[in-house]
Amino acid sequence: MISEQEWTEKLEEMLIGRNPIQGGMLNPSQVYGPCKGNIFIKNMIDEHNISIGDFTYAHMEHLEGERVLRNLVPYSFGNKQLIIGKFCSIGFGTQFISPYANHQMHSFTTYPFWHIFSTRDNITPWMEDAELKGNTVVENDVWFGRESMIMPGIRIGNGAVIAARSVVTQNVPPYAIVGGNPGKIIRFRFSDEIIQELLAVQWWNWDIDTIARYHTVLMRGDIDQLKRITNSLNPRL
Ligand SMILES: CC(C)(COP(=O)(O)OP(=O)(O)OC[C@H]1O[C@@H](n2cnc3c(N)ncnc32)[C@H](O)[C@@H]1OP(=O)(O)O)[C@@H](O)C(=O)NCCC(=O)NCCS
Repeated sequence: MISEQEWTEKLEEMLIGRNPIQGGMLNPSQVYGPCKGNIFIKNMIDEHNISIGDFTYAHMEHLEGERVLRNLVPYSFGNKQLIIGKFCSIGFGTQFISPYANHQMHSFTTYPFWHIFSTRDNITPWMEDAELKGNTVVENDVWFGRESMIMPGIRIGNGAVIAARSVVTQNVPPYAIVGGNPGKIIRFRFSDEIIQELLAVQWWNWDIDTIARYHTVLMRGDIDQLKRITNSLNPRL
């Protein structure tokens, strides 16, 4: 078990500077906000094959000490990457399944003899199948409903929504809402025209002060207002 002291140090590592919206410094209790239990995870996971963007948060129940990684990314070993972008919301119980969770299947048995009986930590025959899968990539501003499960090698586009308890087995296009098992597109959040505008704007790449200044606009759905702001930030020649 992680000690209280270590846990406090971990929380302090999550300080990421100024609170861009309210002013003052961000601290863990502000990160929790009114919805207690949410916390930024960028600095909570220190694995060579996992990268998480700024302001992406997950529910604290994932994050009790050393269980952070095991709960969110079971079987996190190996070379394949899990890359999660900025400003994603990860509901409680969401899991990203690594390719190494798969047992070898073209073999006569799926029983992982090497894994169970060997202390070798180098690549095992059962991992050869896993190597065929790609990296798992989540772009920016993706919302994962509770207990969704993302299978290995999937790409989830900017602004997508994953419905509660979905199992995502195929790539998800930007701004799609996907639900069920296997996950299917329920609908798109916006018209194709608006989706193209949003992908061009890429608000998640604005500097944090600009995001803070216009966060109420981002939290509405008026594309003309967003275009006016974007043009004023980046006047077209
Ligand atoms: C995906 C979601 C956002 C859709 O919300 P909505 O637009 O109000 O959805 P509706 O209730 O109108 O349902 C739309 C369709 O999606 C389907 N659907 C909704 N949620 C679904 C789910 N979790 N799995 C599978 N299908 C789902 C509905 O059956 C319906 O299908 P139909 O059109 O064939 O009848 C919502 O259902 C959801 O899962 N929210 C996650 C909440 C959560 O876990 N929050 C945690 C805190 S971060």
